[in-house]
Amino acid sequence: MSSKVTLEKLVSLCRRRGFLFQSSEIYGGLNGFWDYGPMGVLLKRNVKEAWWQDMVAGHNELTVPAGAPSAYEMTGLDCTIIMHPQVWKCSGHYDLFHDYMVDCRETKKRYRYDQIRGRWAAYQGERVFVTTMAESPEEALEDTQRRALKYFKLRNKDADEVEWEAEFRPLPEVSDLSVVIGPDTTTPGTLTEPREFNLMFKTYVGALGGEESAAFLRPETAQGIFVNFKNVLDSTRVRIPFGIAQIGKSFRNEITPRYYTFRSREFEQMEIEFFCHPESSQAWYRYWRDRRLQWYVDLGLAGERLRLREHGPEELSHYSTGTADIEYAFPFLDEGEWGELEGIAHRGDFDLRSHMEGKLDPKTNPLEVELDEHGKPKWRGSGKDLSYRDPVTGERYIPHVIEPSAGADRATLAFLCEAYDEDEAPDEKGKPQVRTVLRFHPRIAPIKVAVFPLVKKDGMPEVAQRIYTTLRPHWSAFYDEKGAVGRRYRRQDEVGTPFCITVDGQTLQDGTVTIRDRDSLEQVRVHENELVAYLSERLAAPQQR
Ligand code: GAP
Repeated sequence: MSSKVTLEKLVSLCRRRGFLFQSSEIYGGLNGFWDYGPMGVLLKRNVKEAWWQDMVAGHNELTVPAGAPSAYEMTGLDCTIIMHPQVWKCSGHYDLFHDYMVDCRETKKRYRYDQIRGRWAAYQGERVFVTTMAESPEEALEDTQRRALKYFKLRNKDADEVEWEAEFRPLPEVSDLSVVIGPDTTTPGTLTEPREFNLMFKTYVGALGGEESAAFLRPETAQGIFVNFKNVLDSTRVRIPFGIAQIGKSFRNEITPRYYTFRSREFEQMEIEFFCHPESSQAWYRYWRDRRLQWYVDLGLAGERLRLREHGPEELSHYSTGTADIEYAFPFLDEGEWGELEGIAHRGDFDLRSHMEGKLDPKTNPLEVELDEHGKPKWRGSGKDLSYRDPVTGERYIPHVIEPSAGADRATLAFLCEAYDEDEAPDEKGKPQVRTVLRFHPRIAPIKVAVFPLVKKDGMPEVAQRIYTTLRPHWSAFYDEKGAVGRRYRRQDEVGTPFCITVDGQTLQDGTVTIRDRDSLEQVRVHENELVAYLSERLAAPQQR
């Protein structure tokens, strides 16, 4: 990633070139919802298609992939967004899927408790904790200083009279909320005590609309896979070990959506539930963890901004014997902060058992079903047998699950950040100009090749259109004849098109065209008849950085 990228520049480019728009923008937008524009939809589709191709469609179940304990099968699923409410009771989301939030009594704003941070400021013996939601370190400093000075009734020039604690701390470290100045006020003590807030969106199924018909939009795609485990086994010939993959929308009523599409309220997940024998589950966990990291590297996220982080024992869920996050140092995060792209979790038999027997009690022994006051299971499971019988050995067991769970929008955002670069390139008159370029891996670039006639006369448009028509069945191609050719190159650089083809005077003589490489800016001449072969080779070759 170029050190030149900032969230501001990225947002501006994404809007200008049609990657991302605010949802319902003409009505002022809706916080936490984003629309993908003509370029964005191509980019995100390419990310999802690369995932599906590499994990499912291109998987060969006859060979043992490097690092895998054995060969395995992969299959897909596409489940509904609204499911039986019991699913969420047994999965634990109904009871446990919440964040803590605080409200401001003065501004009526609501914040996620763990996302508020602030710093201590003291003046004439009074000490207050000034909080902020500003995202960049500079803005956070400026915001807290401005509001603390206002509270102490001081002017900017008197800032030195205040004793500042340099370090910003999370609000949960402060026990006394009466000395806390909320993020949008200048008065201490306006924040309420933290309260639980369930993140699932609620809706009502059918015309009656009472609590009986309440349902939820799924907060993850994973549960659709678990509840279909038996259906997949019974309708296909898959045998353990095998994985079920799903790409689809998930919804979370995030208290404070932020950082563009990084934390939104409607987003897409790409999830695999991989079912295996308990004894080989650790080896499968390690396989998926490493395989998923390599996937990002292969698509261009290589470098010091990508890392794999194993969770320590204190971070692990009670049922998990291993969880790792694949993280990216997004440019909008503070120095040293990392954002999660994907989690790979060893989930044991927790999910299948919960859907069989009822919600397990996570607070006590995960193998105990939570009981109500009459000693009956609090949330009934389906009662269906979700165990597996090995057709060869006859052994019956509840499979263990390894879950690589990725966010399509976060991955797309990381690829955008990594691709962003600025360099110098000559303009039409040969003068060096700053050039913004998205250096996407060719597999995910929205447009693979653009075709231009140098000028709009002398038969050049006709030849260029013929070439465009020839290339279009092979790749997403773009035809452009408007404006100076230098400006057309710049537009393609800004959407990350790896190659631009120009038809010029020489084409009319000898049938050759120029092909300009987005990254090296080199131009070569290739005969029109050899374009498909040339581009096939170049687009498949590893990315030049
Ligand atoms: N089934 C496991 C599960 O859903 P998660 O860590 O909550 O795990 C998996 O979500 C991935 O989904 C995350 O790593 C992230 O990429 C994406 N994701 C989660 N919440 C998101 C949000 N509010 N906005 C965008 N992506 C999100």
